[in-house]
Amino acid sequence: MTAGAHEAGRREALPAPRLPARHLPWLGPLRAFQRDPVALLRAARERAGDVFVFPLLGQDVVFAAGPQAHAEVFEADESVLSPGEAYRFMAPVFGKGVAYDAEPQEMDAQVAHLRQALGSRQLDGYARIMEAETNALVAGWPEQGEVDLLTELNRATVAIATRCLIGEEFHRRMGADLPRLYHDLESGIRLAGIFSRRAPIPAFRRRDRARAAIADTIAQVIAERRARPAENSEACGSGQDMLATLLSARTPGGEPLPDDIVVGILIGMIFAGQHTSTVLAAWTGVLLLRHPQYVPRLRTEQDAVWERGAELSPRVLHRMELLEACVREAERLYPPLILLMRKALRDTEVRGRRVPAGSLVMVSPAVSHRMPEVFLDPDRFDPSRYEEGRAEHRQSYSLIGFGGGKHRCIGLAFAYLQVKAVWSVLLREVELRPAGPGYAPDYSTFVAAPAAPCTVRVRKRSPEAP
Ligand code: HEM
Repeated sequence: MTAGAHEAGRREALPAPRLPARHLPWLGPLRAFQRDPVALLRAARERAGDVFVFPLLGQDVVFAAGPQAHAEVFEADESVLSPGEAYRFMAPVFGKGVAYDAEPQEMDAQVAHLRQALGSRQLDGYARIMEAETNALVAGWPEQGEVDLLTELNRATVAIATRCLIGEEFHRRMGADLPRLYHDLESGIRLAGIFSRRAPIPAFRRRDRARAAIADTIAQVIAERRARPAENSEACGSGQDMLATLLSARTPGGEPLPDDIVVGILIGMIFAGQHTSTVLAAWTGVLLLRHPQYVPRLRTEQDAVWERGAELSPRVLHRMELLEACVREAERLYPPLILLMRKALRDTEVRGRRVPAGSLVMVSPAVSHRMPEVFLDPDRFDPSRYEEGRAEHRQSYSLIGFGGGKHRCIGLAFAYLQVKAVWSVLLREVELRPAGPGYAPDYSTFVAAPAAPCTVRVRKRSPEAP
């Protein structure tokens, strides 16, 4: 009997339907999967149903779609469906003993320290940094001309993530190199890495060099702060950055966290939160370029909740409900993480279908968010679907762009705050028009951004513009 069937006292699960292996049964549909995994999985779900299995590079992948499947996957015990084993290929980014390379209880303890560093007092200070960095970005744009939206948003979120999470000293020291270093870190995670993290491809070497450069400089900053503990605890008290909180944290035995763990956690947070936020902000922009009829309403909302000259705070951003609904539509239609994974450590089942030990279990926000049974007319951009009365996202585990259950993203509030702060400034300060070829998703890296070039025409607004 499977673990799931045992626990539920149910009868043996049925095998999941297997996608027909055409010519290369070991490789499976690798090419189509690399080109456009979302199209492949959507089409397969239409043919085979909500749970099916297919081979990929010699491994069975059990794919499961829909809120009920999400609940079962996200709520499964880690000794049965393990995120740590599925995401082990990320260990070279996080480092030894950090996040998925740590025992589950140790990872939980690390995540608990982070939650503290993302509390409401800290978010107040972070909102000011988010606004200031977006204003600085716009100040560098021409009065009228073209910019690459993805590259530009990336510049802002690199500065925001660095200042909020690691701190001002690190930002000053690494400054101009950071977009390249973070890019190398992120693009070192590719499909190939899921199956062989030691593959000697150049992207992996760049990833390792970038990590070493970032880690060395963070280690220097830590040494300097440890030498001036009073200043650090003052920074921690004022919610200045995540590093301050981590340096003040203690293990259950009362010891400070080891430096290499602090370094690994910070790099992990940059990795988890920086590029994903850029991508969510970019898709929000692309959707507004495609649906410009929402822009006047969004500006009216800005005028209603924000007083010229006032600081952006989480409280003010919270009142931007239409903007929030537009960001949520970006999360739904173009979730930055299109595939979430678990490794089956024991035989189990999902929605009554067998999941043998050793399989990789995948759920896809990008596929499930477009299920017509869950979201009405799912391919349509429709921010009103979140309004009282409809609230389609209220069904448990329907909107999973930030995961669900115990491992749900702890950076959700930070990410929404950031994307809303960025677009609040941009809506007020600039007019944007499409100039790109259509902004299709690029699935070549782990986080699915609009494909390059992501060019937009920009014109600065005058303060009196309606
Ligand atoms: C738009 C931005 C973001 C997106 C789309 C995103 C998405 C996700 C998703 C889907 C998961 C769950 C993975 C799974 O269950 O397999 C997750 C987990 C996580 N995220 Fe985020 N994230 C974002 C921003 C952030 C930020 C800003 C931070 C930190 C500052 C962060 C830190 C984490 C951490 C630590 C986890 C693991 C939590 C755990 O396993 O207990 N994320 N994120």
